[in-house]
Amino acid sequence: MKVNVKIKRFNPEADKRPYWAEYSLEVRETDRVLDVINQIKWEMDGSLSYRRSCAHGICGSDAMLINGVNRLACKILVRDLGEVINIEPIRGLPVLKDLIVDMEPFFDSYKAVLPFFINEDPEPPTERYQSAEDREIFDASTKCILCACCTTSCPVFWTNGRYIGPAAIVNAHRFIFDSRDQGADERLQILNQSNGLWRCRTAYNCTEACPRDIPITKAIEEVKRELLWRRA
Ligand code: SF4
Ligand code: F3S
Ligand code: FES
Repeated sequence: MKVNVKIKRFNPEADKRPYWAEYSLEVRETDRVLDVINQIKWEMDGSLSYRRSCAHGICGSDAMLINGVNRLACKILVRDLGEVINIEPIRGLPVLKDLIVDMEPFFDSYKAVLPFFINEDPEPPTERYQSAEDREIFDASTKCILCACCTTSCPVFWTNGRYIGPAAIVNAHRFIFDSRDQGADERLQILNQSNGLWRCRTAYNCTEACPRDIPITKAIEEVKRELLWRRA
């Protein structure tokens, strides 16, 4: 089928402002958007810049705003979009070139919530056991691939780039509710700061955007409740 693809492009070394570049090409309807972009780059315009790696929805590097919705380019088929495909960089992070944004502010928020296991007890002779029920409590949060689809679809983040964002809260949730971890108080204190989780206005954009189907808004609400419960 023939598709018309518009890509918002920007080269800070050559362009004063972003502009839409248009490409018309023949693709298969079972192609993914990543295949289409690859075809444009490899056969039509080698200067097009974007991130990708695994091509299978695992690495999280090809998040883009596709027809107005944040998605991974490797997880969306052309036939689900139709003949007109508009592609922009994800919003709220500085554009470095074309579809590549500066992910550092996003990863700074991720790092701020101490996204690693904390336990000061002496190491046990065997594994630190956990029941299946306790593991289930944070199971969904372990599935995050740090693609930033959630944070960059959040209207609060668009207007306040210092909001810690849903991805960081999901990754805090993963450890706060881990029965073996001892760092919950510290993480909750970090999330309780002025640009922390209370900025969330329950917009749900994050949950709708997540390619891993993580119930992000629910996780945020659980962390809010935990914070209130511990302060009571
Ligand atoms: Fe991506 Fe979902 Fe993780 Fe957000 S929570 S970074 S949308 S995988
Ligand atoms: Fe934003 Fe998600 Fe909250 S979109 S406002 S973090 S529910
Ligand atoms: Fe890795 Fe799409 S290229 S998630």
